[in-house]
Amino acid sequence: MAIRNIREIGDAVLNKKCKEVKEITPRVKELIEDMLETMYEACGVGLAAPQVGILKRIVVIDVTGEDPYVMINPRILEMSGEQTGHEGCLSVPGKSGIVTRPNYVKAVAYNENMELYEIEGTELLARAICHELDHLEGNLYVDKVEGPLMNLEDLEDDDEMES
Ligand code: NI
Repeated sequence: MAIRNIREIGDAVLNKKCKEVKEITPRVKELIEDMLETMYEACGVGLAAPQVGILKRIVVIDVTGEDPYVMINPRILEMSGEQTGHEGCLSVPGKSGIVTRPNYVKAVAYNENMELYEIEGTELLARAICHELDHLEGNLYVDKVEGPLMNLEDLEDDDEMES
């Protein structure tokens, strides 16, 4: 496993649409392991493959620090409600902004063994799923921010969510 370099806003790879994963090759397995390691090392709650420069539909999410989800070719099936709160991104270091997201999300994805599974989340998990899936379309949260993009150092620690 290895820590990969996280691409930052302004890097064209972050604005491209990602391709479906057809099979789990040793390379894809290694990518997933590296994405998890890179996310934990950066203290993020999620990471999408384009953030490490790979245009594949793969995201990893862990909002508790002990419950990682690998989502390959994810699709949202249902969403409802609304939450408005702070959001950040490892590709936009030091910044945070207010974004409104659904409060409940149900999605379907393949895991690292290409087994299909459903995932349901509310609050932070729902926010993280939406944020990461946006990355796969080449979209960053900064385009959804309500009001100014703020400096993280001006905020309380518990306001942040970076992915
Ligand atoms: Ni992000």
